[in-house]
Formats: sequence, structure tokens, C-alpha cells
Amino acid sequence: MNHVPNESIHYRPLIIDDLENLEAYLKALSTESKNRFGPHGYDLNSLRHIHNPNGPFKGFIAENFARNFPIAYAIVKTGYLDHERDRLQGYGWELRDATDCTFAPSVSDIWQGKGIGRSLFEHVLTNLKKEGYERMVLWGGVQISNQRALIFYKKLGFMELGTFEYAGTNIDMALTFK
Ligand SMILES: CC(C)(COP(=O)(O)OP(=O)(O)OC[C@H]1O[C@@H](n2cnc3c(N)ncnc32)[C@H](O)[C@@H]1OP(=O)(O)O)[C@@H](O)C(=O)NCCC(=O)NCCS
Repeated sequence: MNHVPNESIHYRPLIIDDLENLEAYLKALSTESKNRFGPHGYDLNSLRHIHNPNGPFKGFIAENFARNFPIAYAIVKTGYLDHERDRLQGYGWELRDATDCTFAPSVSDIWQGKGIGRSLFEHVLTNLKKEGYERMVLWGGVQISNQRALIFYKKLGFMELGTFEYAGTNIDMALTFK
């Protein structure tokens, strides 16, 4: 795989001033990527609501220095999404709300497969470890048809917890990074 020199990409937490560019980034994703990555609405109002500084969500972006524009975005929720709790517990996964979190990544289409997702993930992990988090699950699991993402998560060390049906088969995966 052709990896991008890391010095041309900046990885950092999302700030409120990024939201308009984030909206443009999300709306420019291909239909296929949009179908794979849907943790929240793509409009500015949804983004402002989600990324309220007092809320349970943290955003992270990879920014292309040359353009000052996001090329990747990930969101983390502290703890779990309410509607996923029972399903995850059904696998025998014990929920530890204070030190667990829920994660969803995306990379802009033309930058996929170039090491950006892995580097953004490493940046997210460094931040989460500093804040005392120890484990993460995937937000909404991963669609079994999304082979690229499945390989990606396995390479990062995620383990399968179980499967569920929602618009096709999906796999719940978790990573312990303590
Ligand atoms: C899934 C996604 C976040 C991965 O990010 P990425 O930048 O494309 O992945 P990377 O280039 O960092 O690849 C990381 C590893 O995954 C593997 N990988 C990535 N794309 C691959 C592909 N098409 N085929 C096989 N392996 C692949 C690579 O081998 C790489 O391992 P390496 O670093 O040891 O070489 C990105 O492709 C994406 O946003 N897809 C659309 C939205 C989506 O599916 N989000 C996840 C929803 S669950």
C-alpha cells in the first residue's frame, strides 16, 4: 500500500470552528462511503448538536496541510449508545461505562487505502488512553459487506463479539487497549 508522508497531514481533535468544513467533507463523501458511515446527520445543525462541548461526543480530524481541509473524521462517544447496550451485553460483553467508548471512523474517498485511517486511529487512541479509556466498540458494528473496513479493524486488533441483522448482516467488534 502507498502510505502518505505523515508530515503533510495533521491529526488533531475537532474544534467548533471546524464544523462548516466538516459538513462540506461529509457531504462530499461518495454514496458508498455515506452508506458505510452514518453516526449522525451530515447537516450543520446536527453537527452543532452532536459536537456541543458539554456533550459525550469527541471528534477528531486529519487535515491536509496544503488545503487546511479535513480528509478524515472520526467520532467517539464516551460509554455506549443506548440502543446498542442490550445487544452488546447479549454477547456476554460487560459494559464499563466509565472506561469504555464507542468509535466510528471515515476517510475521504480519494484518501482511502493510504494509511490515513490507521494514523487517525492511532491519534484517537493516544488521546483516549490519556483520558483513562481502556476499551472501544464499533459504532453500529461493521457491515459484513464492508470488506475494506473489516480488514482495517482486524489489522488494528479488534475482535469480533457477534453479529446482528440491520439492513444486512453486521459484525460487532471490540478492542481492549489498556
Ligand atoms: C474503513 C476506513 C476508515 C479505513 O481507513 P483507510 O485510510 O482507508 O485505511 P488505511 O489505509 O489506514 O489501512 C489500514 C490497514 O487496513 C488495510 N486496508 C485498507 N484498505 C484495504 C483494502 N481495500 N483492502 C485490503 N486491506 C485494506 C491495509 O492493509 C492497512 O494495513 P497496513 O497499514 O498494515 O498496510 C476507510 O476506508 C473509510 O472511511 N471507508 C468508508 C467509510 C467506512 O467504511 N467507515 C467505517 C464504517 S464501520
